[in-house]
Amino acid sequence: MDLIAAARAVRKNAHAPYSRFRVGAALRSIEGNLHTGCNVENAAYPEGTCAEAGAIAAMVAAGDTRIAALAVVADSPAPVPPCGGCRQKIAEFAGPDVPVTLAMTASDDSVVMTVADLLPGAFGADHMGGA
Ligand code: THU
Repeated sequence: MDLIAAARAVRKNAHAPYSRFRVGAALRSIEGNLHTGCNVENAAYPEGTCAEAGAIAAMVAAGDTRIAALAVVADSPAPVPPCGGCRQKIAEFAGPDVPVTLAMTASDDSVVMTVADLLPGAFGADHMGGA
């Protein structure tokens, strides 16, 4: 299954009773496996988690190590970008050239950006070299 199709499928399982904005994310690890996640909201709003965070958690839990490609799908009027926090989470596990496909439910349009496009000047482990 391609990443957009996988993100569309998992999006249906989103728990989004508060925003009603369902998001699905799917990634391919460098190990070649598919991992998916959806947003999981909470009555205590800040405790909710994003779809991308779920897919990354599934990847790590499965023992895979790095993201080779990722896609995000939501019912949005324009291809939906990862939030700021998720950009940082993605950058933890993906190099600057890794493609991130932004897609939506109502159309086959999509936009491909790189991790560096989404998070230029990312803070990373290298910056803690002096710590
Ligand atoms: N959301 C995601 O799952 N991923 C994003 O990158 C954007 C926002 C979720 C969080 C919340 O459950 C809902 O979308 C509205 O912000």
